[in-house]
Amino acid sequence: MIAFDNVAYSYGGGELLSDVSLRLTPGSFHFLTGPSGAGKSTFLKLCYAELLPTAGRVTIFDREVRGLDRDEVARMRRRMGVVHQDCQFLDHLPIAANVTLPLAVSGRDTSAQDLADLLAWVGLGQLADALPPSLSGGERQRAAVARAIIMSPDVVLADEPTGNLDWDMSLRLLRLLVELNRMGKTILVATHDLNLIRNAKQQVAARVLRISNRRVQLAGADL
Ligand SMILES: Nc1ncnc2c1ncn2[C@@H]1O[C@H](COP(=O)(O)OP(=O)(O)OP(=O)(O)O)[C@@H](O)[C@H]1O
Ligand SMILES: [Mg+2]
Repeated sequence: MIAFDNVAYSYGGGELLSDVSLRLTPGSFHFLTGPSGAGKSTFLKLCYAELLPTAGRVTIFDREVRGLDRDEVARMRRRMGVVHQDCQFLDHLPIAANVTLPLAVSGRDTSAQDLADLLAWVGLGQLADALPPSLSGGERQRAAVARAIIMSPDVVLADEPTGNLDWDMSLRLLRLLVELNRMGKTILVATHDLNLIRNAKQQVAARVLRISNRRVQLAGADL
Protein backbone atom coordinates (compact mmCIF):
# COMPACT_ATOMS: atom_id res chain seq x y z
CA MET A 1 0.00 0.00 0.00
CA ILE A 2 2.88 2.32 0.94
CA ALA A 3 6.40 1.14 0.26
CA PHE A 4 9.76 2.77 0.94
CA ASP A 5 12.82 1.46 -0.87
CA ASN A 6 16.18 2.83 0.24
CA VAL A 7 14.59 6.20 0.92
CA ALA A 8 16.55 9.17 2.20
CA TYR A 9 15.31 12.64 3.01
CA SER A 10 17.16 15.86 3.62
CA TYR A 11 15.76 19.38 4.00
CA GLY A 12 19.04 20.70 2.62
CA GLY A 13 21.44 20.07 5.47
CA GLY A 14 22.49 16.57 6.40
CA GLU A 15 20.19 13.60 5.90
CA LEU A 16 17.36 13.40 8.38
CA LEU A 17 16.29 9.93 7.21
CA SER A 18 18.67 7.48 5.51
CA ASP A 19 18.23 4.17 3.76
CA VAL A 20 14.65 3.52 4.87
CA SER A 21 13.04 0.41 3.40
CA LEU A 22 9.69 -0.80 4.68
CA ARG A 23 6.16 -1.67 3.70
CA LEU A 24 2.79 -0.75 5.14
CA THR A 25 0.48 -3.52 4.04
CA PRO A 26 -3.28 -3.09 3.56
CA GLY A 27 -5.18 -3.31 6.83
CA SER A 28 -2.08 -2.95 9.00
CA PHE A 29 -1.83 -0.73 12.08
CA HIS A 30 1.53 0.93 12.70
CA PHE A 31 2.81 3.38 15.23
CA LEU A 32 5.77 5.60 14.43
CA THR A 33 7.77 6.76 17.38
CA GLY A 34 11.03 8.53 18.10
CA PRO A 35 12.24 11.67 19.86
CA SER A 36 11.09 15.16 18.97
CA GLY A 37 12.86 16.27 15.82
CA ALA A 38 13.67 12.71 14.74
CA GLY A 39 11.60 13.05 11.60
CA LYS A 40 8.17 11.56 12.37
CA SER A 41 6.21 14.32 10.67
CA THR A 42 8.68 14.26 7.78
CA PHE A 43 8.15 10.51 7.38
CA LEU A 44 4.37 11.00 7.30
CA LYS A 45 4.75 13.71 4.67
CA LEU A 46 6.73 11.27 2.54
CA CYS A 47 3.84 8.80 2.98
CA TYR A 48 1.30 11.20 1.49
CA ALA A 49 3.60 12.73 -1.10
CA GLU A 50 3.73 16.13 0.52
CA LEU A 51 7.50 15.63 0.27
CA LEU A 52 9.44 13.67 -2.32
CA PRO A 53 12.38 11.53 -1.21
CA THR A 54 15.80 12.98 -1.93
CA ALA A 55 17.00 9.45 -2.69
CA GLY A 56 15.31 6.09 -3.13
CA ARG A 57 11.72 5.31 -3.99
CA VAL A 58 8.36 5.84 -2.32
CA THR A 59 5.49 3.88 -3.84
CA ILE A 60 1.89 4.61 -2.90
CA PHE A 61 -0.95 2.41 -4.16
CA ASP A 62 1.54 0.77 -6.53
CA ARG A 63 2.60 4.03 -8.13
CA GLU A 64 6.01 5.55 -7.66
CA VAL A 65 5.44 9.01 -6.26
CA ARG A 66 8.16 10.70 -8.23
CA GLY A 67 6.47 10.08 -11.58
CA LEU A 68 3.05 11.44 -10.61
CA ASP A 69 1.68 14.70 -11.97
CA ARG A 70 -0.40 17.06 -9.84
CA ASP A 71 -3.75 15.52 -10.76
CA GLU A 72 -2.47 12.06 -9.98
CA VAL A 73 -1.17 13.23 -6.61
CA ALA A 74 -4.55 14.82 -5.89
CA ARG A 75 -6.36 11.58 -6.80
CA MET A 76 -4.03 9.57 -4.62
CA ARG A 77 -4.51 11.96 -1.69
CA ARG A 78 -8.26 11.41 -1.81
CA ARG A 79 -7.56 7.85 -0.77
CA MET A 80 -5.57 9.03 2.24
CA GLY A 81 -6.92 10.75 5.33
CA VAL A 82 -4.41 12.88 7.20
CA VAL A 83 -4.76 14.17 10.75
CA HIS A 84 -2.15 16.93 10.89
CA GLN A 85 -0.07 17.62 13.98
CA ASP A 86 -1.42 21.16 14.32
CA CYS A 87 -5.00 20.36 13.15
CA GLN A 88 -6.03 23.74 11.78
CA PHE A 89 -9.56 24.69 10.81
CA LEU A 90 -11.24 27.55 9.04
CA ASP A 91 -12.33 29.39 12.15
CA HIS A 92 -15.24 31.24 10.55
CA LEU A 93 -16.89 28.00 9.38
CA PRO A 94 -18.82 25.67 11.68
CA ILE A 95 -17.42 22.23 12.45
CA ALA A 96 -19.81 20.51 10.02
CA ALA A 97 -18.56 22.67 7.14
CA ASN A 98 -14.94 22.15 8.14
CA VAL A 99 -15.40 18.39 8.26
CA THR A 100 -17.05 18.29 4.83
CA LEU A 101 -14.53 20.65 3.23
CA PRO A 102 -12.56 17.82 1.53
CA LEU A 103 -15.80 16.72 -0.18
CA ALA A 104 -16.60 20.26 -1.29
CA VAL A 105 -13.08 20.69 -2.67
CA SER A 106 -13.36 17.54 -4.78
CA GLY A 107 -16.89 18.34 -5.95
CA ARG A 108 -18.55 15.59 -3.97
CA ASP A 109 -21.38 15.62 -1.51
CA THR A 110 -22.64 13.69 1.47
CA SER A 111 -26.08 13.15 2.86
CA ALA A 112 -27.05 15.05 6.01
CA GLN A 113 -27.58 11.68 7.65
CA ASP A 114 -24.10 10.39 6.83
CA LEU A 115 -22.57 13.59 8.19
CA ALA A 116 -24.67 13.37 11.34
CA ASP A 117 -23.61 9.73 11.77
CA LEU A 118 -19.95 10.60 11.36
CA LEU A 119 -20.10 13.50 13.83
CA ALA A 120 -21.95 11.31 16.31
CA TRP A 121 -19.33 8.58 15.85
CA VAL A 122 -16.54 10.95 16.90
CA GLY A 123 -18.72 12.29 19.72
CA LEU A 124 -19.37 15.71 18.20
CA GLY A 125 -23.05 15.28 17.41
CA GLN A 126 -23.95 18.31 19.48
CA LEU A 127 -21.21 20.52 18.05
CA ALA A 128 -21.95 20.45 14.32
CA ASP A 129 -22.79 24.16 14.33
CA ALA A 130 -20.06 25.26 16.73
CA LEU A 131 -17.13 27.32 15.50
CA PRO A 132 -13.66 25.75 15.83
CA PRO A 133 -12.27 28.31 18.33
CA SER A 134 -14.95 27.28 20.82
CA LEU A 135 -13.86 23.63 20.85
CA SER A 136 -11.60 21.96 23.41
CA GLY A 137 -8.35 20.33 22.33
CA GLY A 138 -9.91 16.87 22.35
CA GLU A 139 -12.93 18.03 20.38
CA ARG A 140 -10.64 19.61 17.79
CA GLN A 141 -8.65 16.39 17.45
CA ARG A 142 -11.83 14.38 16.95
CA ALA A 143 -13.08 16.90 14.39
CA ALA A 144 -9.74 16.46 12.60
CA VAL A 145 -10.28 12.69 12.56
CA ALA A 146 -13.78 13.18 11.13
CA ARG A 147 -12.39 15.47 8.43
CA ALA A 148 -9.67 12.94 7.62
CA ILE A 149 -12.13 10.10 7.04
CA ILE A 150 -15.04 11.91 5.38
CA MET A 151 -13.75 10.77 1.96
CA SER A 152 -13.63 7.12 3.11
CA PRO A 153 -9.88 6.86 2.65
CA ASP A 154 -8.06 3.52 2.47
CA VAL A 155 -5.26 4.85 4.65
CA VAL A 156 -5.35 7.10 7.73
CA LEU A 157 -2.15 8.91 8.73
CA ALA A 158 -2.33 10.66 12.09
CA ASP A 159 0.46 12.91 13.38
CA GLU A 160 0.45 13.06 17.20
CA PRO A 161 -3.36 12.92 17.28
CA THR A 162 -3.32 12.76 21.07
CA GLY A 163 -0.62 15.39 21.48
CA ASN A 164 -2.55 17.75 23.74
CA LEU A 165 -5.08 15.38 25.19
CA ASP A 166 -5.51 13.96 28.65
CA TRP A 167 -5.38 10.20 29.07
CA ASP A 168 -9.12 9.52 28.88
CA MET A 169 -9.45 11.57 25.74
CA SER A 170 -6.35 9.91 24.25
CA LEU A 171 -7.91 6.49 24.80
CA ARG A 172 -11.13 7.63 23.23
CA LEU A 173 -9.28 8.84 20.15
CA LEU A 174 -7.27 5.63 20.03
CA ARG A 175 -10.52 3.63 20.07
CA LEU A 176 -11.68 5.54 16.99
CA LEU A 177 -8.45 4.65 15.18
CA VAL A 178 -8.72 0.99 16.23
CA GLU A 179 -12.30 0.89 14.99
CA LEU A 180 -11.24 2.35 11.65
CA ASN A 181 -8.59 -0.35 11.42
CA ARG A 182 -11.24 -3.00 12.11
CA MET A 183 -13.19 -1.56 9.19
CA GLY A 184 -10.17 -2.46 7.08
CA LYS A 185 -8.31 0.81 6.91
CA THR A 186 -4.53 0.96 7.04
CA ILE A 187 -3.46 3.13 9.96
CA LEU A 188 -0.20 4.91 10.76
CA VAL A 189 0.01 6.98 13.94
CA ALA A 190 3.02 9.08 14.88
CA THR A 191 3.27 9.41 18.64
CA HIS A 192 5.84 9.65 21.39
CA ASP A 193 3.31 8.33 23.92
CA LEU A 194 4.50 4.82 24.76
CA ASN A 195 1.58 4.27 27.12
CA LEU A 196 -0.76 4.83 24.23
CA ILE A 197 1.12 2.25 22.18
CA ARG A 198 1.00 -0.27 25.02
CA ASN A 199 -2.72 0.26 25.38
CA ALA A 200 -3.28 -0.10 21.65
CA LYS A 201 -1.41 -3.39 21.57
CA GLN A 202 -4.04 -4.85 23.86
CA GLN A 203 -6.70 -4.02 21.30
CA VAL A 204 -5.07 -4.53 17.92
CA ALA A 205 -2.06 -6.23 16.31
CA ALA A 206 -0.15 -2.97 16.06
CA ARG A 207 3.50 -2.83 15.00
CA VAL A 208 5.87 -0.13 16.07
CA LEU A 209 8.31 1.70 13.82
CA ARG A 210 11.02 3.61 15.61
CA ILE A 211 13.20 6.36 14.17
CA SER A 212 16.67 6.29 15.56
CA ASN A 213 19.98 7.31 14.00
CA ARG A 214 18.12 8.39 10.85
CA ARG A 215 16.79 4.86 10.30
CA VAL A 216 13.19 3.71 10.61
CA GLN A 217 13.11 0.25 12.06
CA LEU A 218 10.53 -2.16 13.33
CA ALA A 219 10.78 -2.16 17.12
CA GLY A 220 10.72 -5.38 19.09
CA ALA A 221 7.97 -6.39 21.49
CA ASP A 222 9.84 -4.78 24.40
CA LEU A 223 7.77 -1.63 24.83
N1 LIG B 1 10.46 22.62 6.23
C1 LIG B 1 11.58 22.37 6.93
N2 LIG B 1 12.75 22.93 6.56
C2 LIG B 1 13.89 22.64 7.24
N3 LIG B 1 13.96 21.80 8.28
C3 LIG B 1 12.81 21.22 8.68
C4 LIG B 1 11.57 21.46 8.03
N4 LIG B 1 10.61 20.74 8.64
C5 LIG B 1 11.23 20.07 9.63
N5 LIG B 1 12.54 20.36 9.66
C6 LIG B 1 13.52 19.80 10.60
O1 LIG B 1 13.58 18.40 10.43
C7 LIG B 1 13.69 17.74 11.69
C8 LIG B 1 12.57 16.74 11.85
O2 LIG B 1 11.32 17.42 11.91
P1 LIG B 1 9.97 16.64 12.09
O3 LIG B 1 8.90 17.68 12.20
O4 LIG B 1 9.84 15.62 11.03
O5 LIG B 1 10.22 15.92 13.50
P2 LIG B 1 9.20 15.15 14.45
O6 LIG B 1 9.80 13.83 14.77
O7 LIG B 1 7.85 15.16 13.85
O8 LIG B 1 9.22 16.06 15.78
P3 LIG B 1 8.04 16.32 16.86
O9 LIG B 1 7.98 15.10 17.74
O10 LIG B 1 8.54 17.49 17.61
O11 LIG B 1 6.78 16.58 16.11
C9 LIG B 1 13.68 18.84 12.74
O12 LIG B 1 15.01 19.11 13.11
C10 LIG B 1 13.08 20.01 12.02
O13 LIG B 1 13.58 21.23 12.53
MG1 LIG C 1 6.07 15.99 14.34
